[in-house]
Amino acid sequence: MRRLVIALILACACKAQDYEFPSDFEFGVGTASYQIEGGWDDGGKGENIWDFVLHNNECFTADCSNADDACMSYYKMDDDFQMLEDLGVDFYRFSISWSRILPKGHIYEVNPEGVAYYHQLIDGLIERGIKPVVTMFHWDLPMQLHETGSWTNPRLVDSFVSYADLLFQEYGDKVFTWTTFNEPYQFCEWGYSTGLHAPAYAQNGIGGYLCGHTVLLAHAKTYRLYQESYKELYGGQGEIGITIHGAWREPVEPTDEDRAASDAALQFTFGWFANPIFSETGNYPTVMIETIEAKSNEENFRRSRLPSFTQEEIDLIKGTSDFLGLNYYNSYYCSADFDNSAVTVPSMTNDIGANCRGVAVSTESWGLRKLLKYIKTEYNNPKILITENGYGVNSAADSLDDCDRTNYFNSYLHTLLNSIYEDGVNVIGYTAWSLMDNFEWQSGYTRRYGLYHVDFTDPERPRTPKRSAFVYGNIISTRKIDRFFAPTSYEACIYTFPDEFEFGCATSSYQVEGAWDVDGKGENIWDYMTHTDPGVITDNNNGDIACNAYYKTEEDVELLENLGVDFYRFSLSWSRILPGGHANFTNPAGIDYYNGLIDALLAKGITPLVTLFHWDLPQPLQEIGGWTSPLLVDLFVDYAEVIFQRFGDRVKNWITFNEPYQICQEGYSEHNKAPLYTQDGIGGYLCAYTVLMAHAKTYEIYQSRYNSDKEGKMGITVHGIWSHPQDINSDADKEASESKLQAHFGIYLHPIYSEEGNFPPSFIERVDRLSAEEGFPWSRLPKFTQEEIDLLKGSADFLGFNHYATDLCYALSADETRRPSHEYDSGARCYKSDMWESAASSWVKVVPWGFRKLLHWIKEQYNNPEVVVTENGFSTFGNDVTDCRRINYYNVYLEALLQAIYEDGCKITKYTAWSFLDNFEWMDGYLEKFGLHSIDFNDPNRPRTAKMSSYVYNNIITTRKINRDFTPTGFDPCDFDVIPEMERP
Ligand SMILES: *[C@@H]1O[C@H](CO)[C@@H](O)[C@H](O)[C@H]1NC(C)=O
Repeated sequence: MRRLVIALILACACKAQDYEFPSDFEFGVGTASYQIEGGWDDGGKGENIWDFVLHNNECFTADCSNADDACMSYYKMDDDFQMLEDLGVDFYRFSISWSRILPKGHIYEVNPEGVAYYHQLIDGLIERGIKPVVTMFHWDLPMQLHETGSWTNPRLVDSFVSYADLLFQEYGDKVFTWTTFNEPYQFCEWGYSTGLHAPAYAQNGIGGYLCGHTVLLAHAKTYRLYQESYKELYGGQGEIGITIHGAWREPVEPTDEDRAASDAALQFTFGWFANPIFSETGNYPTVMIETIEAKSNEENFRRSRLPSFTQEEIDLIKGTSDFLGLNYYNSYYCSADFDNSAVTVPSMTNDIGANCRGVAVSTESWGLRKLLKYIKTEYNNPKILITENGYGVNSAADSLDDCDRTNYFNSYLHTLLNSIYEDGVNVIGYTAWSLMDNFEWQSGYTRRYGLYHVDFTDPERPRTPKRSAFVYGNIISTRKIDRFFAPTSYEACIYTFPDEFEFGCATSSYQVEGAWDVDGKGENIWDYMTHTDPGVITDNNNGDIACNAYYKTEEDVELLENLGVDFYRFSLSWSRILPGGHANFTNPAGIDYYNGLIDALLAKGITPLVTLFHWDLPQPLQEIGGWTSPLLVDLFVDYAEVIFQRFGDRVKNWITFNEPYQICQEGYSEHNKAPLYTQDGIGGYLCAYTVLMAHAKTYEIYQSRYNSDKEGKMGITVHGIWSHPQDINSDADKEASESKLQAHFGIYLHPIYSEEGNFPPSFIERVDRLSAEEGFPWSRLPKFTQEEIDLLKGSADFLGFNHYATDLCYALSADETRRPSHEYDSGARCYKSDMWESAASSWVKVVPWGFRKLLHWIKEQYNNPEVVVTENGFSTFGNDVTDCRRINYYNVYLEALLQAIYEDGCKITKYTAWSFLDNFEWMDGYLEKFGLHSIDFNDPNRPRTAKMSSYVYNNIITTRKINRDFTPTGFDPCDFDVIPEMERP
């Protein structure tokens, strides 16, 4: 074979997904005065509530520390500038210490040294081309103001406004991005309700709400002051906003109760401040007003614990932000299952009435995308600046090689790109928290968030960049995320597969067994078709001998053992077990063969994962109508019962059907699989009905009669192609992509895995309508009865998912296709981009991000079911065992799968490589080869040779991670940057 080396970088295959940050998008890092400055009583600074609380409590923080010195940033401005320059940030978000400028809090005594300190900081930033983004209040309230009532006193509004006025006068000509407050929920609720933060008051259910009320008014008046007196004065470009902490709340179950509980949690924690400022109606969220009022009543308060705004105040607050500053760290699952006996009454926790817990893996970034989408819809697409996002690690566990933090940033920034490009959310910038390790409030110095490590035992407080600092710097300079970027002297960071995750590989009976008419086996539709019409197969071949696996149990199990797989997925040949298709005669030799295979696997500790039907229907059953006839439902259940009786004692993992789309659409509508029928828009749907009902009845009978120990698990395997809009900005293309997914994938999944059951409603509607238009007296899509819908719903313990590639889709017009047709019913035309690297099979392309997107889609559509990837693989031509392109495919697809687990929170428990062996590839005969092992099909003995990919797969299984540089002994390293061109033999 001629080998052309073409200069196509493999990574380019992901182009469509590798969004770049828009050119005007800005990156920054954040800090806060009290957390870094130190110099607590130096340079004329006054005492603040944190100084006071930490000086007057022996041990308020986790390590009994305070921030008297913190990072000593008050003395180390040049060091801080250096870090900011090295990172290459566009802006630096820091806060001004109120008591450094106004030691007594009130405006009557200004501290010139404090004022000068911030002038120096701001000027130094501007000289270096770094924009100052200034927080006016980041929790360090001057002590005197605390003693006159603190934030619970509405009179503090005026004190804050006069402080703000001074800041605008001093710095307004050079600071053009301001935020009034950082995270009012946190300092109000923790400072005045739970006592977790200074001033450590615990007026639960009362103090926090009073504080929030003052803060909202102080914010609004400050905003108005800036608009009226300073904005024009300073050239009109200045913007002023507020920073709110947000955490998405996802219902545990998609029930009305859990949804309501999640929404309440979101409104109390985020809507509390977002709604009065950003909503059209203004005021607190209705659920807060109503709940707190009702609970206050029950608790015998004379008035609601939540203060109310006058209409004038509502109007004053509404719209007072040029952007929304959002701090985001993690997401929560919430349910209505709330035990109020375990909480303080009154309290906000009790007012919310939801049971929330954080997501287990904090790299899971999907919640940010949901919250951004929510903000867009709810608050009319405001401008958003992410003012904080970062990853905290216990000091003892944190290291300069902080892969966990690096993965966190990669994950969240990836999600942010999706929010920007796919959801059209108006995010203008991103702030990593934090520039350096610092004083982490009640955790003291026991938690680190920094891109730079700070040694707090050294009086010089030296700063050292962590891996994440280099990675973040690389994202800023390249404006995109490169998961495999590794700074000098570091390896790339990768995820490892969870301990309980299992690996396997797969085959199917007709593709490997051979022995087509041996020992009493009956004829199936593939035997019949390939014998009567050999020309339909590309190489005029058939599965008569195939890999001869029927005779090679021992050898194959040994190869599986070498591979190190946890399980082997294979299918049973119906006509080897029931030669005539009916259960009136069971072929003992067929039973013996499978017993031998199952026992040999179990003896080696390999779990059998058995597919009941992988396309080789007994020919006699085709002759009574095949899968288009509902009679097949009971005949399939009969067959399945024979299987359960004979093998169910040892086999506990079952797949009823492999790829109903291929059985039905390709077999009965598209002339692309046996029996090669062409009833487009009709045959495929009749078949779908039968197959789905056969699945559901089999599941029911298995559960009720054969799974008494409840160890057995059963699912169905559906082939899914990610449908991506051809033009991401076109609503029509987006709609077409979704419609295609429902028609191709959802048609088999929705009846089983969705909450409401039945075929996807949009698809039913469309086929019913088109059938009527076409003059059919009935819909071409069969109807399930309510009883059938209920039987199907939930009839699986996991979702089997085969995946190979991605499509680009656009809306299909009526004159572009024939009718009736499944394509027209799906409303989309889909194709594969020439940009993508192709396998030998034209339907396989290297598009790993599509795999991840489809896994995420499954999670969203069907409430995060357990997913078993039952097939995934890459085809080549010829017998070259140095199969670098296959290795690359496995590496990048498994990498995408890890991201789906860790970043998207998908519940994926198993992965199956297709295929264990090169085999009979259906209509393409022996030309297109998917195997981890090569077979010489010219040798009657069908000898097997392990390909390089089988060693790489074994290495992944044993090390539980992807190592692109792994080269098995005896092979030359792969150069993944160049794709050797393949030629069709
Ligand atoms: C089983 O039933 C089929 C269909 O009626 C029949 O053709 C076949 O001869 C029967 N086989 C045996 C062994 O009875």
